[in-house]
Amino acid sequence: MRAFMLIAAFLTGQALAEDHRQLATLPPAAKEALREEMLGNLLAINEILTLMAAGKIKEAGQAAETSLGQSAQGKHRDKPFDARPGQHMPPAMHGIGIDGHRAASEFAKAASSGDRDKALALLPKLTEGCVACHYSWRTR
Ligand code: HEC
Repeated sequence: MRAFMLIAAFLTGQALAEDHRQLATLPPAAKEALREEMLGNLLAINEILTLMAAGKIKEAGQAAETSLGQSAQGKHRDKPFDARPGQHMPPAMHGIGIDGHRAASEFAKAASSGDRDKALALLPKLTEGCVACHYSWRTR
């Protein structure tokens, strides 16, 4: 899937010579909201990995669902239109974000049941979306 995303970005982008990612033009307020969400994502990944390493599998699942899963979708809903990142993303980019929430919820479901092996097997789901989007899209 990653290889596909890279190829797709390479083939369809109005790519610069040194950066093959496609440019998504977001209003400044949406960029700001996105950046804030992204820093939260980074913290969440770190927290979930720390919980997994400590054997706190169920807690890792709960944290994943709340912070990255489908429960975390729509958090910009009440903001002015200009500050809602998803509304200004091209559909393909937005789709990667939505898929990412779904994938995080898949991990969260396994982990919340306390099944360590299954949770470990699904752990890479947490970062698939991050990589897919970051390797295909840029905002500047
Ligand atoms: C749908 C696309 C998309 C997904 C999915 C995504 N990101 Fe991002 N991310 C962006 C964009 C676009 C920016 C740049 C925002 C800007 O500065 O305009 C960004 C910026 C960031 C930054 C830099 C924030 C800063 O300091 O400026 C971090 C860290 C980050 N993302 C982490 C993550 C993590 C971790 C995940 C997965 C849990 C993730 N992102 C998923 C699109 C995405």
